[in-house]
Amino acid sequence: MEKKKFYITTPIYYSSGNFHLGHCYTTVICDAIARFKRLDNYDVFYLTGTDEHGQKVENNAKKENMTPKAFVDKLHEQIVSLWKLLGISYDKFIRTTDDYHVKSVQKIFQKLLDNGDIYKSEYEGMYCTPCESFWSEGQLLDGKCPDCGREVKLMKEESYFFKLSKYQDRLMKLYEDNPDFISPKSRLNEMINNFLKPGLKDLCVSRTSFKWGIPVPFDDKHIIYVWVDALSNYITALGYLSEDPTLFNKYWPADLHMVGKEIVRFHTIIWPALLMALGVEPPKRVYGHGWLLFGGDKMSKSKGNITDPFLLCDRYGVDAVRYFLLREVPFGNDGVYTNLAFLNRINADLANSLGNLVSRTTAMINQYFDGVLPKPSEKEDLDDELINMANSLYGKLTKHMDELLIQEALEEIFKLISRANKYIDETTPWILAKDPNKKARLGTVLYNLSETLRIIAMYLSSYLIEMPQKIMDCFGEKLPKTFDDKNVVFGQLKPGIKVEKSGVLFPRFNIDKELAEMDKLLDSAKKEEPKKEEQKKEDIKKEISIDDFSTIELKVGKILECEKLEKSKKLLKSKVEIGNETRTILSGIAKYYYPADLVGKSVVVVTNLKPAKLCGEMSEGMILCAEDKNGQVVIVSPEKLVESGSIVS
Ligand code: MSP
Repeated sequence: MEKKKFYITTPIYYSSGNFHLGHCYTTVICDAIARFKRLDNYDVFYLTGTDEHGQKVENNAKKENMTPKAFVDKLHEQIVSLWKLLGISYDKFIRTTDDYHVKSVQKIFQKLLDNGDIYKSEYEGMYCTPCESFWSEGQLLDGKCPDCGREVKLMKEESYFFKLSKYQDRLMKLYEDNPDFISPKSRLNEMINNFLKPGLKDLCVSRTSFKWGIPVPFDDKHIIYVWVDALSNYITALGYLSEDPTLFNKYWPADLHMVGKEIVRFHTIIWPALLMALGVEPPKRVYGHGWLLFGGDKMSKSKGNITDPFLLCDRYGVDAVRYFLLREVPFGNDGVYTNLAFLNRINADLANSLGNLVSRTTAMINQYFDGVLPKPSEKEDLDDELINMANSLYGKLTKHMDELLIQEALEEIFKLISRANKYIDETTPWILAKDPNKKARLGTVLYNLSETLRIIAMYLSSYLIEMPQKIMDCFGEKLPKTFDDKNVVFGQLKPGIKVEKSGVLFPRFNIDKELAEMDKLLDSAKKEEPKKEEQKKEDIKKEISIDDFSTIELKVGKILECEKLEKSKKLLKSKVEIGNETRTILSGIAKYYYPADLVGKSVVVVTNLKPAKLCGEMSEGMILCAEDKNGQVVIVSPEKLVESGSIVS
């Protein structure tokens, strides 16, 4: 039977370097889905890559005295080694500087022109070079870039425009006809309310202000706008408009574009409109996942969080990092990384639940049966619950994975692990072992546990890289490449096979000691980054007296309503209850929070800040936030529930 195809993509990553754990999120998620689908007999094509053009790259390369190509080559090497370390099983890695991509993007641009979807006009706006963005006057904050706060300059450019507005109705119809096209649902509503309903404007798709990009084929003064170049990767990688479109004919449309929530708009508005203009089917589904935030943790004594995936993998292994990313973040929403949360999660699940089950089972078979797998014979009712749970896992996992409920899928596997640990406590093999008449029953119990482990290892192999094979090694077995009618059913291990003791499958950490170790690791990593430290010193503000401090009034507020400020990319507008009054407060956090995520949240507000007009709206106070060295911003919230209006001092 011919396999069903499954084409899955991550966004192509910016060539900016300094990859942190958050960057690994999209890729690890896609890898787990791709691995699961391969096991589930799909013909999977998993694409990832790097987004290597743009003014930022041109500028950064100049700063490092390198050519842009040499600069992106260095970062390409870095990201490929990161994906290797994390066991990312992509089928193709595309670079937007690859020749075939450049040629196809030029053909795409020509086709858009030929079809009447591109016209030449003039673009005028305030331009922020680091953000590669034009802003209208109304969007600027204090005359500066609303995204990064840096100086902007007025620029007028002759530009080509894509007739995005023409596709407004067809996009709406696409959403209506395909309710799963954008998920989760909240992101669909945001696209409709914030972008389609107010009306789409034509999109400027070329630049003349820099050189590092793909030249417009019929006007080489112009460079093709980075997003047209970048989005096209999903089809150029398959050979669209090339001499060999075999992969394109086989795999397109994409079954899943997995993207972070901040780039859902590009993938659900600009991308399908471009495809419509090209006469190409839109992708089947775009999923906008939440972010991994790097939080403070009151319970943690750590000085900071380790956010470098190389450091974490080096010390804790790839499975710990993958497991944390897949299990800790409620899929679709944001999740928080702290050193403590990381240690707690791997200790509880990998060391205690799974590690214990494997070491207890294999040790008892060695102790009571000389390391030979016993034959199951004397069955009791108690066994059925375990066996049924193991047998029903396939159905549950395929359903969860189809619905992209990755956390729930892992939870199901760990429910079986807990059930098996409980089964040991209920059947008490060490007591059975004392009674020679109970040898057959003891054999059945240990067989059932071994078979449960086989099933667990098989399913875990979509999510983890090393531990599943280590479990199978205890039974001298290989992990299967695909699920089949036999291996998803309980009872496949052959009695009589040799069973090796597992040893320590995953070490258990003493949390306090390990947190201190993590601090040391951070310290030594920081010593290697003197530049950043120097920069930090410049940021230290001058000392103030307690009287100075007491002039600032801080109160607890509760966010009643929150929405995006239409005129700004950066600002959220919140109605905040502070005791008996309600204030409107604007905060530059639209990049970090979805409005709906903030409603009901308790926050700390500077209440005696002089009201200020931002983008034409009055803001009556300031919501306190913290920003880490990676630029991740989180709201400061009281540790426990406290009435709004309470004084913070
Ligand atoms: N180059 C564009 C995508 C073009 S696709 C045609 C881009 N690149 S990126 O490097 O900034 O982001 C790549 C992926 O990493 C995105 O899905 C982004 O959401 C994800 N993440 C980066 N930081 C993240 C977190 N802290 N948490 C989770 N994922 C985040 O956007």
